Order: sequence, then C-alpha cells, then structure tokens
Amino acid sequence: MKTAIISGVTGQDGSYLAEFLLSKGYRVIGLKRRTSLLCTDRIDHIFDNDNFKVEYYDLDDVGCLYKMLYKYEPDEFYNLAAQSHVRVSFDIPEHTVNGVALGTLRILEAIRNTNDRIRFYQASSSEMFGDNPNTPFNEDSQLMPASPYACAKVFAHNLVRNYRESYWLHASSGILFNHESPRRGETFVTRKITRAVARIKLGLQNELRLGNLDAKRDWGHAKDYVEAMWMMTQQQSPDDYVISTGQSHSVREFLEAVFDYAGMDPYKYVKIDERLFRPHEVPFLLGDSTKAKKQLKWNPKYTFETLVKEMYEEDYRKIEGESK
Ligand code: NAP
Ligand code: GDD
Repeated sequence: MKTAIISGVTGQDGSYLAEFLLSKGYRVIGLKRRTSLLCTDRIDHIFDNDNFKVEYYDLDDVGCLYKMLYKYEPDEFYNLAAQSHVRVSFDIPEHTVNGVALGTLRILEAIRNTNDRIRFYQASSSEMFGDNPNTPFNEDSQLMPASPYACAKVFAHNLVRNYRESYWLHASSGILFNHESPRRGETFVTRKITRAVARIKLGLQNELRLGNLDAKRDWGHAKDYVEAMWMMTQQQSPDDYVISTGQSHSVREFLEAVFDYAGMDPYKYVKIDERLFRPHEVPFLLGDSTKAKKQLKWNPKYTFETLVKEMYEEDYRKIEGESK
C-alpha cells in the first residue's frame, strides 16, 4: 500500500485529494495546523476510514516535518498548505511569504535529507503570471507576480525546479488556475457569490458587496484538478504542468450566471465596495494546458455551467437546511 502525506488537508484541495487517494487504495496522512475551532468540516466524512490519519503540523515547524517523514515513510508528499488568499497576503505579507516560500524550502530539504525518493507535488499558481498581458499562459510564459502571495509562489516554484535539477528529486509543480467547488473558502469570490445568492433567495440577506467585477479568471472544478496533481506524481520524470480549462470569464459573468440560475436580477442587490479592490490587481488569467492534456492525458469533466450550478445548489440546500 502506498502512503501519501498531504499538507493542508483541511483545505478545499486537501480534502478532495485525500478522498481521491483513499479511493485509489492509499494510506493518507493529512497534516493539519492547530486552530482554536476544529475546522475539519471538509474531512469529517473520511475520519473513520482506517487508512486515513490526521496529524498536527505547521509550515514553520521543521522538527515536526522530520518526525512525519520518519514515522510514516511516505511514497508521495503533496504540499498544499498555504495562506492562500491573495488579498489577505497584502495584509499579512510576512506570514504568507514565510509559509509559502520557506515552508516549501523546509519540506524539500527534509525530503532531500531523509529519503530523496519521495515524490513531491508543489501547489504552484496561475497568480504567478500576475499582470503579464501575453495570454494564454503556458509553462514557458513569463512570471510577473502582483502580490506577496504570488511572489512567494514564484520563489517556491523556482525552488522546486532547482531541487529537481540539483538533487534529482522527483519534484513537480502544478501551475493550477483558479478552481472552485462547494467546499471553496467563503471569502473567495465564487463562493462568496453563490452563498450570498442562496441567502438572498431564502430571504436571509438583501445586499452583496463586491470589488472589481471586470477581473477575468479561468475557473475549473477542484475535483478535476486534484486528479491532475496525482497524475503528475505518477509520471516517470518530474515536470511542471499548467492545469486550466482554457476558458476565461469575468467576475461579472460569474455573478450574472448565478443570479440567472436563481431567477433574480443581480443589480438589485450588488453594491460595489472600494475596500474590496486590491492594491495590485491581476486583470486576466487564461491557461493553455496542452502539455497536461498530451502528457498526463488530463481532461476536466466540469464546465463553467456545471460548476456554477453545483456551487449554487449546494449552498442553497445547506443554508435552507440550517435556517430550518
Ligand atoms: P485553502 O482552502 O485555503 O487551504 C489551505 C490549507 O492550508 C488549509 O488546510 C489551511 O489550514 C492550511 N494552512 C494554512 N496556513 C498553514 C500553516 N501555516 N501551516 C499548516 N497549514 C496551513 O486552499 P486551496 O484552495 O485548497 O489551495 C490549496 C493549495 O493550492 C494552496 O497552496 C493554494 O495556494 C494553491 N492554489 C490554489 C488554487 C485555487 O484556485 N484553489 C489555485 C492555484 C494554487 P486551515 O484549514 O486551518 O486554514
Ligand atoms: N475575494 C474576493 N472578494 N474577490 C473579489 C471580490 C470580493 O468581494 N470582488 C471582486 N473580486 C475579484 C478579485 O479582485 C479577483 O480579481 C477575482 O475576484 C478573484 O478573486 P479570488 O476569488 O479571491 O481569487 P484569486 O484569483 O485572487 O486567487 C485564487 O486563485 C489563485 C489562482 O489563480 C486563490 O485560490 C489563490 O490561492 C490561487 O493561487
């Protein structure tokens, strides 16, 4: 039986990846940081699985990292932990950069010094392309990061390549474009919208405050994207891959699609709030995942429409249940 360690298992991607690897017959060790509330909602349903175990960890705790590697002798390590909110990275830049950049360095060093055959996956991001105007982006596009979060992801991304070439680690980076789901954090724009529209429909809210509606993103579904992570670690040679749908939509289009699905007019409820604009915006993200499609045989199953539908319906069902 293969063993995989996932840092950030309580997050959106960590929870889907844990489910996916368990379904493939892996033993999964999920690493969770200590929080004052439990925050295990996304993984509660797999807690009783005998092949799933959760351990405490933090991106800045080197000793804990070595302990995990010695104790579980993993075959694969998926580094998904991060302060992942771009806007928040302007407010707490040092914490964000320390976790994303040095946290990745700590894991790579620990792997190199304990068992250099562990296959490593790094959660790189399309945010690394920043405000580069030359879309669509592939693995060779210029990185022009536009936030502390993205600068740190560039550092980590370069480090993975450097460790791969210097020490022959099986270390791959997935340059993932935005991916969403009903498990998406509530302060990311898609989930903020689907929750608000469900609450408005149920008479629990009458206003939705948003920032820049003109930003465009290449939005996919997290379930499709965690499969690509695993495909990368199964390759004979490590590499970097762009994972995207190849379609870009504005925040306005996402907003209108959700309100349309709920049968309401967005402009009766939406207020533009200057405080939600960013010091430096990433205006347009569009990915070209030709390489992943060809080499990994990866193909997303969800479309923009099925993503919107699933997120809205799930929020409506959950909020209706809670309000009863
Ligand atoms: P997420 O839902 O915000 O999950 C992040 C995870 O990291 C959570 O489990 C969080 O714990 C944990 N974490 C945060 N700080 C930590 C620390 N100091 N030590 C240990 N754990 C810590 O993010 P996601 O959407 O699943 O994304 C997963 C990874 O992919 C992240 O690295 C993100 O930057 C990257 N990424 C995401 C996207 C996307 O569109 N979703 C695209 C490209 C790249 P808590 O649950 O306690 O907060
Ligand atoms: N969060 C948020 N809240 N964003 C808003 C709002 C709002 O009220 N109003 C407009 N936006 C715009 C933002 O300015 C941004 O252009 C866009 O909506 C998407 O914002 P987020 O959903 O917060 O995601 P992100 O693109 O900044 O970052 C996500 O995707 C990256 C990959 O490209 C995160 O998951 C990152 O961790 C990930 O790396």
